[in-house]
Amino acid sequence: MADIVTIGVVGAGLMGNGIAHVAAQAGYRVILHDAYPDALKRAQETIAKNMGREVKRERLSEADRDAALGRIQAADDVSAVGEAELVIEAVTENLDLKLKLYEQIVPALKSGAIFASNTSSISITRLGAAAPDPARFIGVHFFNPVPVMKLVELIRGMATSDETYETLKNVVTQFGKIPIDAKDSPGFIVNRILCPMLNEAAFAVLEGLGTIESIDAGMKLGAAHPMGPLALSDYVGLDTLLAVMQVLHRELGEDKYRPCPLLVKLVEAGWLGVKSGRGFYDYSQQPPTPTL
Ligand code: CAA
Repeated sequence: MADIVTIGVVGAGLMGNGIAHVAAQAGYRVILHDAYPDALKRAQETIAKNMGREVKRERLSEADRDAALGRIQAADDVSAVGEAELVIEAVTENLDLKLKLYEQIVPALKSGAIFASNTSSISITRLGAAAPDPARFIGVHFFNPVPVMKLVELIRGMATSDETYETLKNVVTQFGKIPIDAKDSPGFIVNRILCPMLNEAAFAVLEGLGTIESIDAGMKLGAAHPMGPLALSDYVGLDTLLAVMQVLHRELGEDKYRPCPLLVKLVEAGWLGVKSGRGFYDYSQQPPTPTL
């Protein structure tokens, strides 16, 4: 098993800041990279706020919070991840964008470093082929909100070595997560099952099966889900959900994965859910009100 002291996280969005949070809290030194200084600033504020929740609930001392925050170094230059033994990429769910970014990350990687992607649906074997050594490439899929959700899917590509797999299994266990193995197939396990359900909820809106609020209430109260599917879609990001459905549809080739046209329209409108302030709900209102 490789010895991991420093973890590079590329992408300071929803998932990247969560990964940096749990890594720093587990005692790792973290280099959080994003090309956008604003995104880095927002991520640091989010991490401090989320650690603050744990201090308030007396699960984390102020001293431990300060030490964890002190272990996170923000870097707007990608070469900074060259100090890390493990680099986790957590950028937008778009193959071309990821591959373009890999052209910048790969020359920065330290010799022998493990490279991992938090992709939620893209082939690990395909991404691994763009790594300097596919044996040291692996899928490590976290769930939102990262500090709360216990699961991590570990996905081995064609060439991923046992050592890489064992190292990641140990690291995510140190993060306090429970890893499961998932096959390198579109959407892996959770998104293969969850995203078609969320997509179906968008069809339910489109076909007028009920109002946004009644569809969400139906699944919360009738199926004991912690959030309704439309609120969860907004939470995950409608662009991310659409990207996953497009991968499932394209790669698995079945009509049942067809992205709902309403989801496509919302994304075209820039209504991406919580992160853009509007999706199925309007988040400028308290509590959020349905937009349709
Ligand atoms: N960061 C850190 N902690 C958070 C948090 C965040 N962003 N959001 C909530 N919490 C914590 C709170 O501090 C609280 O902790 P305790 O109960 O231990 O004190 C706990 O989570 C519950 O929070 P709240 O009481 O504020 O709110 P809630 O009870 O409504 O729970 C929720 C919020 C945890 C998000 C819950 O609604 C939930 O589990 N929703 C479903 C989330 C889900 O399905 N995620 C998977 C999405 S799919 C995905 O991510 C994969 C992909 O690739 C698309």
